Amino acid sequence: MDAVDVSAGVLACAKVLNGRPNITYLKPDELKRRPQVDLAYSYAVFQHLSHESLTRALRLIAGQIRPDGVFLLHFAVPGQQGWRTEAEWREDRSLAGRMKLRYGLNCFGRTVAEMEELIFRGGFTDITTRPLDGTITVPGDDDIVHQHLLTARRR
Ligand SMILES: C[S@@+](CC[C@H](N)C(=O)[O-])C[C@H]1O[C@@H](n2cnc3c(N)ncnc32)[C@H](O)[C@@H]1O
Repeated sequence: MDAVDVSAGVLACAKVLNGRPNITYLKPDELKRRPQVDLAYSYAVFQHLSHESLTRALRLIAGQIRPDGVFLLHFAVPGQQGWRTEAEWREDRSLAGRMKLRYGLNCFGRTVAEMEELIFRGGFTDITTRPLDGTITVPGDDDIVHQHLLTARRR
């Protein structure tokens, strides 16, 4: 199993928390050298990516999944719990807005239609999306339970 994150610190912590020998912790660039897989999933990551980074990540993930393999993707929709779209963040010319966009942890909401279009253009088919509401429980006050899960098959 390959576990990918852009942060060396996150990968080091993950390895300490779960050092099972069948998990390989990798930076995104290292994934290209790995064999293709039947299933990939991404949880609580895509909302932090700009359109440009998201497109790059999708290309990488699509390249690692075998034809007919499955991709599960969690994402956040705009409007709920104050999630704004990337365009709304970029339109915000206030100092706080620009600082957050440039230096903060970005949190971009994307509509179901926008996400499905991106996934289709990224090389996937049989795309379905459903709200997570009522299907999962997470301890504490986690907004993930109100977000969405997309499933797709590699073309
Ligand atoms: C909210 S955490 C979720 C971590 C993990 N997926 C989980 O569910 O516990 C978001 C993670 O996305 C990672 N991240 C941000 N941009 C990324 C990128 N371009 N490629 C891969 N990981 C990225 C961050 O380093 C961070 O660890």
